[in-house]
Amino acid sequence: MHRDVSGIDAIGRTAFAVAALRAAEHRSPDGLFTDPYAAHFLRAAGMGPQWEAGADFAAVMRTQAVVRTRFFDEGLLAAADQGCRQVVLVASGMDSRPWRLTWPADTEVFEIDQDPVLRFKNAVMDEHAGPTVVARHPVAVDLREDWAAALHARGFDENSPTAWLVEGLLYSLDAPAADRLLSTLTRISAPGSTLAFDHFEIGPTLRAATDRIDPGLTGLWQSGPADPAAWLKSHDWLADVHELAHIAAEFDRTVHPAYVPGPAAEGHSWLVTAVRPNPAA
Ligand SMILES: C[S@@+](CC[C@H](N)C(=O)[O-])C[C@H]1O[C@@H](n2cnc3c(N)ncnc32)[C@H](O)[C@@H]1O
Repeated sequence: MHRDVSGIDAIGRTAFAVAALRAAEHRSPDGLFTDPYAAHFLRAAGMGPQWEAGADFAAVMRTQAVVRTRFFDEGLLAAADQGCRQVVLVASGMDSRPWRLTWPADTEVFEIDQDPVLRFKNAVMDEHAGPTVVARHPVAVDLREDWAAALHARGFDENSPTAWLVEGLLYSLDAPAADRLLSTLTRISAPGSTLAFDHFEIGPTLRAATDRIDPGLTGLWQSGPADPAAWLKSHDWLADVHELAHIAAEFDRTVHPAYVPGPAAEGHSWLVTAVRPNPAA
């Protein structure tokens, strides 16, 4: 069933682009994960095969999107296994992890995104998936507002360790906005909490490639943090910063040159995990 997406703004629609890449990976025999829900989102939004195929877009973005998906799947499940019983998907878009992953039974999964995005997602998943096995709490709020209060209002407990995921978001924030996000998230993270995110430098090749595909998309990109390791350290997180290209190689994937640092290529693309240490330790 087609659903109205007219209330979803340009940044909200980027979630469909990620879903298109995950749908393609799902169809691939050697896919890094399965995501049977991604295609439902696209169909419900009236996006046909041209979206799913999206050859130019996929050439630039697919490896980044699918490697990070697999990497964060593993990281989130490991965090849950180690005691994080709250998971917060910040800017969750069409991420289907609340349904797709097998969480410990008492896990509470919070999904923060804009109201029209979450309403669309809820409707599609009601039709195609039904309720999640674990407790799921959609939190409809703009991340530029007091999102921590909205999260608390849905039952979030800041004294309980949390696994945070900020996926596909930081490049659309400027450095001060990214910093405000991290400050808030840090303030409500109990010791033992984990944080994972992806981020990349936006160089000329990437900009030119996305301009050819969709200038509107390039227009959404800002800077985010310039140095994730230093950024996390300054907020008292113990960080593990990986180059996407290295993690991709572990999965036998090669990234587009726009995501490879070095003189012959363009810039850093990071997959980051971090832990909030116990102050007494
Ligand atoms: C590229 S999508 C990524 C979605 C998801 N994390 C994933 O990887 O599939 C970006 C998401 O960020 C959300 N977003 C961007 N700015 C936001 C804001 N100010 N408040 C709430 N959500 C926001 C959009 O609505 C969209 O769903």
